[in-house]
Amino acid sequence: MLTEAAPAKLNLALHLRRRRDDGYHDLETVFAFTEFGDTLTVTAADDLSLAVTGDFAAAAGAGGDNLVLRAARALAEAAAVPARAALALEKRIPVAAGLGGGSADAAAALRLLNRFWGLEWPEAMLVELAAGLGSDVPACVASRTCFGSGRGEQLADWPVAMAGQAVLLANPRVAVPTGPVFAGWDRIDHGGIVPGADLAGLRNDMTAAALAIAPAIGDLLALLAATEASLVRMSGSGATCFALYPDSARCEAAAAVVESHGWWAAATILR
Ligand code: C5P
Repeated sequence: MLTEAAPAKLNLALHLRRRRDDGYHDLETVFAFTEFGDTLTVTAADDLSLAVTGDFAAAAGAGGDNLVLRAARALAEAAAVPARAALALEKRIPVAAGLGGGSADAAAALRLLNRFWGLEWPEAMLVELAAGLGSDVPACVASRTCFGSGRGEQLADWPVAMAGQAVLLANPRVAVPTGPVFAGWDRIDHGGIVPGADLAGLRNDMTAAALAIAPAIGDLLALLAATEASLVRMSGSGATCFALYPDSARCEAAAAVVESHGWWAAATILR
């Protein structure tokens, strides 16, 4: 049996630049990843299967359209090997939450099956294959703080070390579908991200559109802003918001406050 972590994805900032003719949006973002996440394991089998357990198993589903199975089939086809693997996913990341859960799982599947099938593909080849599975999947293959552009699939280094930073993930338990949030953007370009810029001066340009769909995000952001956080922002298309803290004690204290409102919280660190 082999195991692979699927770290949750955060957008420490997300600047929308332009709606493209293909329906996607050009954006600039700072991707970061947390110690908190899903876990994917694999054992030998004659065919391909997926079992899902964990807090958000029902919402994720284990059907043939699950991104883990699509990733497995795509890798098997590209590497010309039979798609044989019994996969088991422990689903802890909330679904439709701006934490890239499905993308993280797909990326973990690529890394895991690359090992399990003995393919020895370098990361760059997995990243290239990942772009066909979703805009966030390439960043999730790398699962380290990085700068993303294009539709999110073009990756570059982020020149500021973030590992070990205490971070709280908080979600008002409202699922927010990605497409409608992008569609609700007012299409005003407020400028890009200079790699290495101070995060405090950056934005998430999808916040207003997500708030219109899920007003609870506003209550959550206000609550987080009243804690000892050094930075509070929504991740991706929401509804998850994150808060950075100077230490884990303050982070865990804030998690307890969030949970006392009946909301979901995970106190973790950036990896
Ligand atoms: O690439 P992915 O399948 O994850 O994207 C899901 C949806 O999010 C797309 O169908 C599109 O509506 C939106 N999207 C976008 N621009 C991006 C990434 C995603 O409009 N850069």
